[in-house]
Amino acid sequence: MNSKSAKFITIEGGEGVGKSTNMAFICEWLDNHNISYIATREPGGTPLAEEIRALLVAPRAERVGEDTELLLMFAARAQHLSEVILPALRRGQWVLCDRFTDATYAYQGAGRGIDKGKIAQLENLVQGELRPDLTLLLDISVEQGLARARERGEPDRFEQEALVFFNAVRDCYLQRARQEPHRYRLIDASLPLIDVQNSMAMHLMTFLGSDV
Ligand code: TMP
Repeated sequence: MNSKSAKFITIEGGEGVGKSTNMAFICEWLDNHNISYIATREPGGTPLAEEIRALLVAPRAERVGEDTELLLMFAARAQHLSEVILPALRRGQWVLCDRFTDATYAYQGAGRGIDKGKIAQLENLVQGELRPDLTLLLDISVEQGLARARERGEPDRFEQEALVFFNAVRDCYLQRARQEPHRYRLIDASLPLIDVQNSMAMHLMTFLGSDV
């Protein structure tokens, strides 16, 4: 579905892996290589999808049903795709997205226990054939990640989950990375920032050289 030149790159990982800092680094890298791109995030990326994000992350007394959460994720994604991601790719701009459907497999699938087949159905419905061209997975131990995330302040509804939830999320990401080695690049986010960024730059360079 992407034109040959416009690539769809996602960045994934559990809580506190350093996605924001590394998104900024990738933006700088793309600028330095004169690549036209947009940077965006999920859930979110449009005003309506950001409102859905706020609903999703807010701690609340009412239990949020697993399917409700799943459908809200895909509702936000449908809006983001039609209004932001697909138009950018059609214009020939690369899209750099902080999380995408791999997060749904990890959080709603492995974390909440929703059947993978159900997620795959929604993925096909909402995305058609669109899948990321490259996914950079930042990996760190759950304990280290949560300690970093908790330094940021009050935990949101997801950050309030227990260790068992985040271990399932991490295992799912690692398993997906093993299953799709052509798309995923695994990055050890426990290393010093300079090493993480060197590793990202190397993967981006190889990707850029591969078929663009
Ligand atoms: P962020 O704070 O890392 O940007 O993401 C907000 C939360 O949303 C994070 O805890 C992971 C969660 N999430 C899901 O549970 N499923 C999804 O499909 C996405 C995109 C995010």
